Amino acid sequence: MTVAASWRKVARFTGIYGPGRTLFKAAGRLRLGLAMPTLRRATPDIGVIGCGQFAFATIGYFLRRHGRRIAACYDIDVATQASFARSLGVKAQPRSAEALLAHEGLRTVYITSNHASHTPYALQSLARGIDTYIEKPVAVSQAQLAALIAAQRRSKARVFAGYNRPFAGAIRALREQMTIDPTKGITLQCFVSGHVIAPDHWYRRPEEGTRVCGNIGHWLDLLVHLLAWRGLPDRLEIALTVADAAEPDDNLAIGISSDRGDLFSLVLSSRTEPFEGINETIHIQHHGTIAKIDDFRHLTIWQGERLMRRRFWPKDVGHGGAIGQPFGGAMQRDWDEVVRSTQLMLHIADMVRSGTRQSVFSFRESAARLAHEIEAL
Ligand SMILES: NC(=O)c1ccc[n+]([C@@H]2O[C@H](COP(=O)([O-])OP(=O)(O)OC[C@H]3O[C@@H](n4cnc5c(N)ncnc54)[C@H](O)[C@@H]3O)[C@@H](O)[C@H]2O)c1
Repeated sequence: MTVAASWRKVARFTGIYGPGRTLFKAAGRLRLGLAMPTLRRATPDIGVIGCGQFAFATIGYFLRRHGRRIAACYDIDVATQASFARSLGVKAQPRSAEALLAHEGLRTVYITSNHASHTPYALQSLARGIDTYIEKPVAVSQAQLAALIAAQRRSKARVFAGYNRPFAGAIRALREQMTIDPTKGITLQCFVSGHVIAPDHWYRRPEEGTRVCGNIGHWLDLLVHLLAWRGLPDRLEIALTVADAAEPDDNLAIGISSDRGDLFSLVLSSRTEPFEGINETIHIQHHGTIAKIDDFRHLTIWQGERLMRRRFWPKDVGHGGAIGQPFGGAMQRDWDEVVRSTQLMLHIADMVRSGTRQSVFSFRESAARLAHEIEAL
């Protein structure tokens, strides 16, 4: 990217995210060791595993907003760990996750490493009784999910998931406005302009669970969250269309209908890199409500002749609310919803991997299978 384009990006980001978040985003990319504003007086009691861009620009930024300070960080890459620690004023830089979790006074750990490592790290931190925030996905296989639930049940610590869209201002405002009719279906449609991911990007490694676990899980989780407002259906009919079978998770469409009259469609299109990052348009209909969410910056709700418009500045995709859960944020996510959405995500990831184009998914049957697997551990 040219210098002029970089400055243009900073200007656009500032218009979307505000100056503070833009500073963290730019510093997270550049890693020049620039000291970010941190809260010197707060007690450092947070650990971070995986010090990449999301940990720096989003977790680092919002922890500060929540009045929290990071005590220790760990990354398999020493330079990444050191630049994160220098910029965010983190004193301890242990050279293993075990050493980080043994750090005295650690109360909460944020796991923001590669997808396949989320569950194994969460098992360790829950065993130590440390509150554990797991970035999405919380698991990349059914076996991991079973182990995670078993560990959570054994632990006195709490577990949180990084699925942020249910915390978005637009979704919460819609929930306040919407009247739910338990006999009626819900329609959700999402068009997502996703990032172009390099052929050798770590998201693509077979063990990391495909872009379904890496990206699409977000909108499947939003679907499960919206359906839970009314009560989940049981059976889903799922159809998958991919633009190119050689790259099945880059440009694809997922269509879902349910036994309670619900309808979901998602298109992820990653043919070109969106200049300001991922961009999404979401339409929702239920009972007497029609809603449109434009990139989590604008919400329009129609209810008969009533028209309501809201603007969200800075753009609010729900990261602040999700990251604040361990500290008694205004909204706490129902862990069971996260488990259900993870099961649906794993089912669709399997469809993408196996080239299956149509299938039926049952929440009830998948919950029974999971319970069986947990029992067998
Ligand atoms: N909720 C959201 O909107 C959102 C957005 C972007 C990324 N994420 C999530 O954040 C996490 C990190 O993604 P990112 O974009 O920062 O990627 P990234 O590649 O910038 O960072 C990942 C970091 O993890 C480190 N790492 C890799 N394997 C590790 C291991 N086994 N132990 C410890 N550290 C390890 C890498 O060295 C790297 O620094 C992922 O789970 C991703 O899905 C969430």
